[in-house]
Amino acid sequence: MTAAPDLAAPRPATDDLFRSVFRRHAAGVAVITARDGSGRPAGFTATSLASVSAEPPMLSFGIATTSSTWPAVAAAGHVGVHVLAEHQRDLAATFARSGADRFGPPTAWREGPEGVPLLDGVLAWLVCRVVGRVPAGDHRIVLAEVLAGDPGEGGGPLLYHAGRYHGLRE
Ligand SMILES: Cc1cc2nc3c(=O)[nH]c(=O)nc-3n(C[C@H](O)[C@H](O)[C@H](O)COP(=O)(O)O)c2cc1C
Repeated sequence: MTAAPDLAAPRPATDDLFRSVFRRHAAGVAVITARDGSGRPAGFTATSLASVSAEPPMLSFGIATTSSTWPAVAAAGHVGVHVLAEHQRDLAATFARSGADRFGPPTAWREGPEGVPLLDGVLAWLVCRVVGRVPAGDHRIVLAEVLAGDPGEGGGPLLYHAGRYHGLRE
């Protein structure tokens, strides 16, 4: 029997604790896209993408209600979900930068199923039907059912950890 490791006294739930713990959480990087009410493409970088259900296939992502993309996601019937490749750090940064022209050059995209904006050159993508928007503090958890997509041919994913983008290292 080995002794239990010493655990530091727990810290109270502050913003700093929350941020510090999630800085240690490595996550894959996705871009979520949709059309806004005027048909313009909108989208944002997200690490909150999660698989939810196998039957039917459903996923979720979190979006801040202060996000410039929220009005589009709040109204859209469908969204595009893109898993970014290791070489797409600039694309991830563009879709996270306030005020950036996210769909202007050099972003390459096309219209996909259900009119959803689809980004070129990603590792994998899905087009989904939005089935729920669950209030969660200052965010909404969007639930979406998978309609179509392409798993791609493999390659290294883009990861985010400790405030930086990374590739996988064996
Ligand atoms: C790596 C990374 C992951 C992010 N994940 C999310 C997320 O899951 N949900 C979200 O609402 N915003 C997320 N953001 C923030 C948005 O991408 C975006 O930066 C923010 O909405 C500010 O853009 P805006 O001013 O156009 O709203 C993330 C940003 C980065 C850099």
